[in-house]
Amino acid sequence: MQRGSLIKEGKAKSLYETDEPGLIWVEYMDQATALNGKRKHHIAGKGVVNNKIDTILFNYLISEGIKTDYVETLSDTVQINKSVKIIPLEVIVRNYASGSLQKKFNLPYLQKLNQTVISYCYKSDELDDPVINASEALGLGFIQPGDSERIQELTLQINDLLIERFAQANLQLVDFKLEFGKLPNGEIILADEISPDNCRLVDLTTKESLDKDVFRKSTGDLVTVYEEVLKRLEQSEEKAHV
Ligand code: TYD
Repeated sequence: MQRGSLIKEGKAKSLYETDEPGLIWVEYMDQATALNGKRKHHIAGKGVVNNKIDTILFNYLISEGIKTDYVETLSDTVQINKSVKIIPLEVIVRNYASGSLQKKFNLPYLQKLNQTVISYCYKSDELDDPVINASEALGLGFIQPGDSERIQELTLQINDLLIERFAQANLQLVDFKLEFGKLPNGEIILADEISPDNCRLVDLTTKESLDKDVFRKSTGDLVTVYEEVLKRLEQSEEKAHV
């Protein structure tokens, strides 16, 4: 497969065309952003570790019957994905109180929520990804009737699967962000990336942070922490296959 022309340089990945219609070339970059891209840093090794974590998680979800845009991993930093029309919503999923929800309602850190909380942000750097509800997203034409219900259904399935997979790696999935895309036939499938860049993970026992919070709060070395997540996922994968 050949890399074609650049489609878009994102915050952590660059997307290129390929010589096969319907497939895109995704390069994971050594870049971290916080505060919606306002703080950008070069972080050596991050692209490789996120590509590896994402590859494990997408292969796992596919093996559990979830349809995704993932096709194959070509090298340490490159994946081939299906080209989809991205639904312009960040789907935020929360199992325990942290981040903006914890702050908004003044909750104790990691308080268990009575049920999974799903909320949306509209993907727009100019507007700073404003929170949006399903009625607004429909009214503004960002989604079509039925899309929100399908997104919620898929999100809850994916959440249950990820909670279980991370628990095997002794990690607690606090909250995370998903993105979905539409295939030409209108089917909604999981897209984008699942890595510690867009998940909050804590050690199941000690509650130590193992995610981008170490970067946001400047409390530790990001790649060392991401590599620990990868190591735990790889070790638990070996156990799962024995
Ligand atoms: P949230 O608590 O709303 O914001 P912040 O991460 O700024 O404290 O985030 C909840 C989860 O969703 C967290 O795991 C990070 C993820 N997320 C993203 O990956 N990208 C985003 O643009 C947003 C808003 C959240």
